[in-house]
Amino acid sequence: MESSKLRRRGAGTLTREDLGQTVKLQAWVHRRRDLGGLMFLNLRDRSGIAQVVVHPEEASGAAETLAAVRGEWVVEIIGTVVERSAENINPDMATGTIEVAVTEAQVLSSCEPLPFDVMGRVDASEEHRLRYRYLELRRQELQNNFLLRDKATLTILNHLHEQGFVHLETPILTRSTPEGARDYLVPSRVHPGSFYALPQSPQIFKQLLMVSGFERYVQIARCFRDEDLRADRQPEFSQVDLELSFTDPDEVMELVEGLLTEVFALAQIDLPKPVQRLIYRDAMDRYGSDRPDLRFDLEIVDLSETLGGSGFRAFQNTVAGGGVVRGFAIPGSAGAAAASRKQVDTWADLARKRGAAGALVLRHRDGELQFQVKGALSQGELEAAAAALGLEEGGLALLVAADRDVACTALGALREAVAKQYDLIPEGAHAFAWVTEFPLVEWDSGSERWTSLHHPFTCPDPRDLHLMDEDPKAVRSLAYDVVYNGMELGGGSIRIHSSDLQQRVFSLLGIEPEEAERRFGFLLEALRYGAPPHGGLALGLDRLIMVLCGAESIRDVIAFPKTTAASCLMTEAPAPVEESLLEDVGISVVAKDEVQEEA
Ligand code: AMO
Repeated sequence: MESSKLRRRGAGTLTREDLGQTVKLQAWVHRRRDLGGLMFLNLRDRSGIAQVVVHPEEASGAAETLAAVRGEWVVEIIGTVVERSAENINPDMATGTIEVAVTEAQVLSSCEPLPFDVMGRVDASEEHRLRYRYLELRRQELQNNFLLRDKATLTILNHLHEQGFVHLETPILTRSTPEGARDYLVPSRVHPGSFYALPQSPQIFKQLLMVSGFERYVQIARCFRDEDLRADRQPEFSQVDLELSFTDPDEVMELVEGLLTEVFALAQIDLPKPVQRLIYRDAMDRYGSDRPDLRFDLEIVDLSETLGGSGFRAFQNTVAGGGVVRGFAIPGSAGAAAASRKQVDTWADLARKRGAAGALVLRHRDGELQFQVKGALSQGELEAAAAALGLEEGGLALLVAADRDVACTALGALREAVAKQYDLIPEGAHAFAWVTEFPLVEWDSGSERWTSLHHPFTCPDPRDLHLMDEDPKAVRSLAYDVVYNGMELGGGSIRIHSSDLQQRVFSLLGIEPEEAERRFGFLLEALRYGAPPHGGLALGLDRLIMVLCGAESIRDVIAFPKTTAASCLMTEAPAPVEESLLEDVGISVVAKDEVQEEA
């Protein structure tokens, strides 16, 4: 075949079956070596790497053309697939027994000196790598993450399509869709002084699509939330967003289990079925978290009865005041009984950060039970507490006395810290759980009002409707979250489909009828036009992919992520804009210190 008519081959697709064939590669120079007059290039493209060799005496033109090339130049070569000599065989390489003997070559693109060693050790700072993200994305590990992301996304959409879900897109320029974060706002040029909000989720629109009669909706939806960022949060992220009409929590949970089974199988992770279900109250009481990490035990035990009557004032007063004494024991094999004073202080600090007065330790050492406050508890009380905690020789228990909610969250934080410190999380363990029966609302002492635990459209549990006015905190909701290894992968609920009930919930949340009408009038109206009962859920797609890839940061599965300060270091967004653009939208910028002065 004429060489110009040859089709491009992927470097990693070459096999021994190609021996003797003429092939054309267009790829990046991964590595160059010059050996005894021969030039070896490893050429890399998405499919993999192949070695090519240039014999100057057989292909002098090619040798000249390639003389200047260095790492990351883009070249085209034509040559013959041949056996490697015995000493050149590389068993670690898929194409390690063959190479391409070059006959023709062209440089397609040169490469300036690189800002960091793109293919080598990652010693450049993360800021630097994010500044040149397009280069970092050439790394094989990252490419693998995105190839898996692509596969998982298609698997999800196909799975749901087969179950009758319709993929529909909802607006990005919209009104506030509350999910508990701040909105990103976009000023309108046509309506100066008015703003669109970017969706925190497509929640309201997907409910409206149920009113429209689509019955089953799915979207890979981009969501925007202006909130404090962490390793598993980004200001813009993607959800696998679902909604179904005529459903119930069991149906949604079973459907999501089926979906997750197929997706996790892509990473050879087995989803145990049925997935364990925990009600919120138990999750908090036993693990101190509504997204408990169930890969390890360290279960929290209530000691209020055992120790509330002791002579120790801190315990006595707390329990008499309606609080609790709780704790958990670290197994003897971890050797925590030998924990240093400094370590004990660190635990107490962590408990204080979660609102408790501190944390106290009870050690089982050298056959003795030693409480941190000497003489505060009798031998009988110590023994009863140790028995309730399951405290073993060599072990140590952490105790917290506080209001129930504070004790739970403080012990929950300690539980996670201790598990990491003493290496109590089994390697390769996968623990899934559903958490159900969340409270509908929680008291926000800052704004002094009830706020939704999920969002305002979550349906109260019909069994608790009578408590809405007299004891809102006791009202459970029809919400469910799916948790994996201590991370919230997704959350959803059955929704309110009656305008009257929706209005009642708005007013419980302190949203007066006029405000409800102004912000959500279109939804309240829609719910009066034959709205079917409906419910759904959204999975955090980026978090899901993180788990599949075993990535530590959400940034490793987002092509162009933002920093924890919500900046894009590559494009330098956000950025000031020209005065004329601000004028168009009727905005004038006031410097922050001026605002503070006025205040
Ligand atoms: P929720 O707010 O729980 O529910 O979000 C669903 C899932 O989205 C993921 N997630 C995030 N991922 C990355 N960065 C973030 N900042 C971020 N915030 C949330 C989490 C979370 O479980 N409308 C409801 C869903 C519903 O009720 O159907 C919602 O958005 O994995």
